[in-house]
Amino acid sequence: MTEPKRYLVTAALPYANGPKHIGHLAGAYIPSDVYVRYLRSQGRDVVFVCGSDEHGTAIPNQALKENTTPKAIIDKYDAQIRDCFFKLGMSFDIYHRTSEPIHHQTSQEIFKTLYNKGLLTEEISEQYFDVTANTFLADRYIMGTCPKCGNPNAYGDQCEKCGSTLSPRELINPRSTLSGNPPVLKSTKHWYLPLQNYETWLSDWILKSHKDDWKVNVYGQCKSWIDAGLQPRAMTRDLDWGIKVPLPDAEGKVLYVWFDAPIGYISATRALFQEITTNKTKFATPQKYFAGATADDWKKYWQDKDTKLLHFVGKDNIVFHCIIFPIMLHATGEYILPDNVPANEFMNLEGDKMSTSRGWSIEMHEYLADFPDKPDVLRYALLTNLPETKDSEFTWKDFQAKNNNELVAIFGNFVNRALVLTQKYFDNKVPALGVLSETDSKVLAELKEFPSRIGQSLESYRFREATAGLMDLARLGNKYLAETEPWKLAKTDMARVGTILNVALQIAANLSIVAEPFLPFSATKLREMLQQSAGKWAQAGNSELLAVGHSLGAPTLLFEKIEDEVINAQIKKLNDNKKAMELANQPAEPAKPEISFDDFQKMDIRVGTILQAERVEKSKKLLKLQVDTGIDTRTVMSGIAEHFSPEEVTGKQVTILVNLAPRKIMGVESQGMILMAADKDGKLRLLQPNEGVSPGATVS
Ligand code: MF3
Ligand code: ZN
Repeated sequence: MTEPKRYLVTAALPYANGPKHIGHLAGAYIPSDVYVRYLRSQGRDVVFVCGSDEHGTAIPNQALKENTTPKAIIDKYDAQIRDCFFKLGMSFDIYHRTSEPIHHQTSQEIFKTLYNKGLLTEEISEQYFDVTANTFLADRYIMGTCPKCGNPNAYGDQCEKCGSTLSPRELINPRSTLSGNPPVLKSTKHWYLPLQNYETWLSDWILKSHKDDWKVNVYGQCKSWIDAGLQPRAMTRDLDWGIKVPLPDAEGKVLYVWFDAPIGYISATRALFQEITTNKTKFATPQKYFAGATADDWKKYWQDKDTKLLHFVGKDNIVFHCIIFPIMLHATGEYILPDNVPANEFMNLEGDKMSTSRGWSIEMHEYLADFPDKPDVLRYALLTNLPETKDSEFTWKDFQAKNNNELVAIFGNFVNRALVLTQKYFDNKVPALGVLSETDSKVLAELKEFPSRIGQSLESYRFREATAGLMDLARLGNKYLAETEPWKLAKTDMARVGTILNVALQIAANLSIVAEPFLPFSATKLREMLQQSAGKWAQAGNSELLAVGHSLGAPTLLFEKIEDEVINAQIKKLNDNKKAMELANQPAEPAKPEISFDDFQKMDIRVGTILQAERVEKSKKLLKLQVDTGIDTRTVMSGIAEHFSPEEVTGKQVTILVNLAPRKIMGVESQGMILMAADKDGKLRLLQPNEGVSPGATVS
């Protein structure tokens, strides 16, 4: 295969509707970053784009949950995700946003191109509409009874109880989550991309041309989609959040999020070249190939056949990147197609599916808060465990083992020994290389092989294998020192010690180049220790990277041991989180049978003030209260001692049922009942008027 002139690498645009977890990192982000850093080290011309996906119903959904606006949601999570990516070393040339005007413009242009070419079909269909809220309802905004399992709280797209995929029309007794009312069917017009027209073209392109170079999991998914037969797919939605459909008769309609989001890659590239050419200061050390760029150069990366386009995504994104987006690009007649979509499967966590909403996940920002100085450890633990061919699993114990047994015990230990011994015996200067022993020659010959072997793994998207190769190189160095034992020769043969340390230091210098794509922060640290400037991949394998007499920097530790307590605390945090989420997601108590207004009227509920409170001997639960009810001052025995101390409730206003028949409790007559709100976790809260009222105020 001839070498492409340039690369455009994309990583899936994460939805800015919540924090992202390490499963996302393992799916698309870390592999793409390793790949791009490798390409740059190879001196290839590459543009790496990503950004926030800020449209679709996921955004207003979250706004509803957080009781705020969609704009506030995207600003919050875009900032959070952007910051985490930066701290984890993701080296995007640009991290863009689909809310930017240039993206709206680009998406509308592409929609118009397809429309003007007559490639979109118009169809009128009936969809659920909420008359009270005066809006069409996205699938998530409709609830009803699941036709499969009878769950009364199934959503229009899915029943979370039995897991069935649903369409809103299948729900029994549908209701709008906006108003609670049953929705009505109303006809609406939408524009469809007739995917079925491209079936032959698509199966030639994927099933014939990419049978051998696409990953089995990716190819398999494409094949089953194509075999099942493609259907027209609506490219517009009735929604008030998104990119306006650029047609005169499309009031209240926006582009389908999966139409606009992948176009985000194109707009990001456009924005990048605008910035390179207008805001040069931001690109103080631009890549060589950016020198002399013009704003129009984005086109080279999207329209020139000599560009290799690669999409890194997780498995739930395969169909969009292999079928729908390529059809869109192909239909415009202006764009190149992806050369590969090296999608990963999912990463599970401690034996269960990763899920933010169920509290079973490790969010990027939480990891970084707990391990701010360890981005590389996470990169390494994920890389050695990527779900490349099947789902994989992250465990904290494995994370600890990867750190302690590999990064610390092999990589860090080797580098540290080489440096500390050089400091001790050679005044921190690279010693001369004497006569090479057989061991030395063998090690140097092996060293030569590593870069191309690791490079080959990377070029075929085998990142686990590549990462293992990196650790093997460190292992080679570590083993070499263990075998030659220079510390034992110091008294008898200093020249030999010098030779050994020269070889070891050359291996360390090689490690700093080869490790850079995988462990960029540690590679930089290592280069500083070696006082070595950034090396290119082509130099790796060389055993004369460090000149004799070259002064080294101070040795510091590259990695540090992670203790059991730290790991156990993380496992506990995970389980606590899950419990908290289970409670939060638990449905409220079911309603009691109906009563009449007269029934209700029988209850005399007042606001009272607690004048005194004391614990009751031999009872954990009870407080004995003196309550001013406005009518009188009376004694109430209340089961709140596990929730409140006497001091906490004294002086507080409460609601009290005053005409409850008196009861003897622990020998004391209790005259009434304090009303409490019991949360799902059993915790009690006082019910108080929202501002002070005089005791005796009636409640009705
Ligand atoms: N936001 C989508 C997700 O998280 C991915 C969008 S990728 C793009 O699943 F191609 F559409 F940008
Ligand atoms: Zn169901």
